[in-house]
Amino acid sequence: MTDVLEFAVSLAFESGRIQKRHFEKRFGVYHKGEINIVTDVDIECQTHIMERIAREFPGDTVISEEKANRYEGTANRWIIDPIDGTTNYAHGYPFFCTSIGYESESEVKVGVVYNPISDELFFAQKGKGAYLNGERLSPSGTTDMKQALLVTGFPYDIATNPDNNLDHFTAFLYKAQAIRRDGSAALNLAYVAAGRFDGFWELKLNPWDVAAGTLMVYEAGGRVTDFKGNPYSIYGREILASNGLIHEKMREVLGEGR
Ligand code: IPD
Ligand code: CA
Ligand code: CA
Repeated sequence: MTDVLEFAVSLAFESGRIQKRHFEKRFGVYHKGEINIVTDVDIECQTHIMERIAREFPGDTVISEEKANRYEGTANRWIIDPIDGTTNYAHGYPFFCTSIGYESESEVKVGVVYNPISDELFFAQKGKGAYLNGERLSPSGTTDMKQALLVTGFPYDIATNPDNNLDHFTAFLYKAQAIRRDGSAALNLAYVAAGRFDGFWELKLNPWDVAAGTLMVYEAGGRVTDFKGNPYSIYGREILASNGLIHEKMREVLGEGR
């Protein structure tokens, strides 16, 4: 493991320990929007991660969901979601993770996603594959949409913006074997890499939701594009990730909707 990967893994474990310590206990919950929340635990994890990065990699830039970002510095950038799946966390639903991406020369080189409840550590390194608890990952071999288990999520402005994924969701309900919506985009991508889901799509995600997970899908041998099949950017607004085999079929369905 490289120094960066080893460090990112230690951050994810430390963040996971904080999450486990407070899980199903009392903590503050604050509203960033009507249905978009942040908890004291998000802040504690983020503060811990930011302090550790500032000590170990003081020149690097950092972007993270709960702000306190550092934009001045080297071309190396840490992209952090301290808890991806905050709504789940706040309700005691054990599906959430810390997501850590490391970008250098405008490319994500390292990604780590850790769910402390299932104790599953997903990691990937550019050109070196994707792993779950040390086992190399590869996506599913599903070619038929009627056998595909897909996953998605909805933006926090679902009630006020018609560009809210409901169209696509309905279309896929008729085409796929089944659809899940389980509240952590980073874990959803890691699950595509692991072959648990055959495909994932979503709108309006942020770089901290996807930086680590997309590297995992590429490195496992899956495919990630925008809805039109163009190369994907973690700074883009739409994502389609799949095992590669059902990608074009999913693109057709996305082409029918808004
Ligand atoms: C959210 C989760 C969810 C996705 C939302 C994200 P958060 O992140 O990844 O699955 O549907 O769009 O914002 O708020 O729990 O970090
Ligand atoms: Ca997130
Ligand atoms: Ca978050």
